[in-house]
Amino acid sequence: MPAGESFYIATPIFYVNDVPHIGHAYTEVAADVLARWHRQRGEDTWLLTGTDEHGQKILRTAVANDTTPQAWADELVESAWKPLLKTIDIRNDDFIRTTDERHEKAVVTFLQNLYDKGLIYSGEYEGYYCVGCEEYKQQDDLVETETGDYAGQLVCKIHSRPVEILKEKNYFFRMSDFEQRLLDLYESQPDFVQPESVRNEIVQFVKQGLSDLSISRSSFDWGIKVPWDESHVVYVWFDALLNYIAAVGYGSDDAEFERRWPAVQLVGKDIARFHAVIWPAMLMAAELPVPRNVFGHGWLLVGGEKMSKSKLTGIAPNQITDTFGSDAFRYYFMRAINFGQDGSFSWEDLSARYQAELANGFGNLASRVIAMVQRYFDGQVPEPGELTDADRRVRITEQASTDAADSAIDRFAIHESLASIWNLVDELNGYITEQEPWNLAKSEETRERLATVLHTAYRGLGTLAVLLSPVLPQATAKLWTALGGEGGIDEQVISEAAKWRGSGSVTGLDGTLFPRIEQPAA
Ligand code: MSP
Repeated sequence: MPAGESFYIATPIFYVNDVPHIGHAYTEVAADVLARWHRQRGEDTWLLTGTDEHGQKILRTAVANDTTPQAWADELVESAWKPLLKTIDIRNDDFIRTTDERHEKAVVTFLQNLYDKGLIYSGEYEGYYCVGCEEYKQQDDLVETETGDYAGQLVCKIHSRPVEILKEKNYFFRMSDFEQRLLDLYESQPDFVQPESVRNEIVQFVKQGLSDLSISRSSFDWGIKVPWDESHVVYVWFDALLNYIAAVGYGSDDAEFERRWPAVQLVGKDIARFHAVIWPAMLMAAELPVPRNVFGHGWLLVGGEKMSKSKLTGIAPNQITDTFGSDAFRYYFMRAINFGQDGSFSWEDLSARYQAELANGFGNLASRVIAMVQRYFDGQVPEPGELTDADRRVRITEQASTDAADSAIDRFAIHESLASIWNLVDELNGYITEQEPWNLAKSEETRERLATVLHTAYRGLGTLAVLLSPVLPQATAKLWTALGGEGGIDEQVISEAAKWRGSGSVTGLDGTLFPRIEQPAA
């Protein structure tokens, strides 16, 4: 995509029934890395995140805690969800809450529009409902448990909790009208749903036939009132999905809406159906553009199961960042797990990668090169002499890593992007070991060669700082300053990473980029 074009990316909005765990943080980090990368391409970038506050799940949690859902949500948003963004260094442009007035207005406008078009009717529904998912379930989505507290009962496969039978008079959205148009969309835009495994599941699901969607509830009132019938509130998913357009001016600021929408939607694969089936059908009904892509990433697993608070397997992000820092948190999850597949978190793997890749691989390289420029050239980066094949190889890798990392981002392959950047880390470490600048420094005769080697390494480090800044914003900002980089590190253009020159003088790094961890984590 050429510079200047719009790039809008949104995370799901998170339920405020509980505090965040590393699964939520994982989505946030991935979206933030992509947003930072696109910003560094010079694109008109917007990152949206927020909270999902209506529905039965939040209502029940509030009641169980002797409070109102609004007070509960206010408390959790301020004490847990907004602080999460700081803990893991998310640079979001906006934060939307479904209780915001701007959101509620957009939902009413949207719903009224569909009603006026004759796409909503009143009917009856009876079915199994999972409050954890906030969704009516089909037989396929349920299993009968044999053991444990719920033995003999039908439970939801995702939450392992019993479903309830609900029978209600509801309003329905004519989603079935959009079945063929959805199939045409998946066909004509094969990258609409990614990765392939999620796409296949979605296509199969729609091919089995779509029912109309119940979009209101009358048995409780924690939600947005249906404009033409105030005894109903809007179904929480129908409400929540609209946040993505409410936040960018739908119904209130046409120019802003035009500028931002459509978005790239990053979601966990558990909620891909809502985003790749219901959401585009809603948008088609309103004659609005569908999302640019829906990417369903994998789950963080604990003991082979999706990590979750309800199963008591949740790990709080600050349990990791307190010891390792936010950069390491970001790096670990983006590097160790193939984006799009499930992955297991382990403290051992995190510690090992921190030590080998961040501290020894990247951090040590930076410290050594800067220290040598200071020691042998008084901090002034020397001009190079004639280049050898080894020096040229470093330059070739700089460009190749930049190109490969950049194109991996377009495929949402964040892990591959990092692997390509690490080719340059490894190349530079091998180069230093091979060239032995400390030996070249021993004689005046090899002074020119020493100059070329340190100049080459200095250039490589600057390239790394630019390429790694979306993932490691703090360490690279520190490195950039030490290298005498000009402008903010986050303003550096990715495609120019291999061309940076720096001011030509270094200052000492304030400590190491990735300090030794004394205490093994819990
Ligand atoms: N509120 C809905 C989304 C509405 S979007 C219009 C919701 N919220 S949630 O808080 O339960 O989870 C949201 C997202 O958190 C998941 O889609 C996923 O992106 C992330 N994750 C939650 N648990 C996770 C893992 N164990 N692993 C990876 N991601 C996880 O669903």
